[in-house]
Amino acid sequence: MRTIIAGVGHFVPDRKLSNKDFEEMVDTNDEWITTRTGIKERRILDKNKGTSHMAAKAAKMVLKQTQISADEIDLIIVATVTPDRPVPATAAFVQKQLNAKNCWGYDLNGGCTGFLCALATGSQFIETGRHQKVLVIGADKMSSIINYKDRTTCVLFGDAAGAVLLEPSNDDGLGVEDFILHLDGLGADYLEIPAGGSLQPASRETVAQNLHFVYQDGRTVFKHAVSGMAEVSAEIMEKNKLTNKDIKCLIPHQANLRIIDAAAKRMGLNPDQVVINISKYGNTTAATIPLAMSEAYQERKIRKGDWIVISAFGAGFTWGSLLLKWAI
Ligand code: UT7
Repeated sequence: MRTIIAGVGHFVPDRKLSNKDFEEMVDTNDEWITTRTGIKERRILDKNKGTSHMAAKAAKMVLKQTQISADEIDLIIVATVTPDRPVPATAAFVQKQLNAKNCWGYDLNGGCTGFLCALATGSQFIETGRHQKVLVIGADKMSSIINYKDRTTCVLFGDAAGAVLLEPSNDDGLGVEDFILHLDGLGADYLEIPAGGSLQPASRETVAQNLHFVYQDGRTVFKHAVSGMAEVSAEIMEKNKLTNKDIKCLIPHQANLRIIDAAAKRMGLNPDQVVINISKYGNTTAATIPLAMSEAYQERKIRKGDWIVISAFGAGFTWGSLLLKWAI
């Protein structure tokens, strides 16, 4: 049994924050942000809504597209670093909003590689024959964990969600072909939220010291991301004996245009073989890949039978790639 992506959807909030807006907030400028990252604007969710709001909207788009009812869903996996609450899992709030009565579910924290980890995990439930319809969602409300006074992080991130429906297929040629995933805890201190966990629970002091916001040593993460994402993207292609001519497109995690370009170059891809939307949304963490995938599908840039490589790098460090043949 193989796993295919049977539908894909996304949601982005209406409110935009442009590079110009940041010029009023911190010591930065449009030129620095554009040349260093490729980002022009990002979306921001209302203060009174959580990640599950976006996740459920993206999932509803998938249900409408695939014409299946919420009751048919067996499992919901939500990749996120910004759960609605620490407990329970955001999957529970998504289940409630979808009114999906016959499923179980859980959250998965794989940082910016979260969607890729969730897709790899979800596909195993299909391949074993245990489940028929698995919703895999990548969703993050990054604005809830960003310090808008810290120019080194605040310009980078935005809010969004993307979702796919996984189903079994007997067609040997289609669906998930292979994945390679890595985890290296030596990277843990370079991209983190220092407090709010069991090691350093929330206190007046942790709040006063801004320890509940994202901290990133950008230069170190950049160095590892460039080599990690480029290598693993090329590795999955070579391992499966595919060349740059066989690949329709790379759908990379959208953290920095320079990281994406390095991966595309290592794979020998032309610019038109890379799906890029970072200028519109910035880094939406677990949401970047399903969001880019959904837009590419809507724009008919990917079609049935196309070989697609997905790759990501993020907190952990965690990184990886996944190869699939598009099935819809
Ligand atoms: O998605 C999860 C994984 N995350 C990533 O993949 C992100 C990886 N890192 C990056 O994308 C890049 O490192 C950044 C975009 C975060 C930063 O770009 P950089 O070229 O690595 O810049 P830098 O951190 O080396 O900083 C260069 C200079 C510094 O000034 P000094 O020390 O040279 O005087 C920064 O203080 O740019 C300064 N700077 C800024 N200037 C204007 C940092 N942020 C800003 C800003 N506006 N927003």
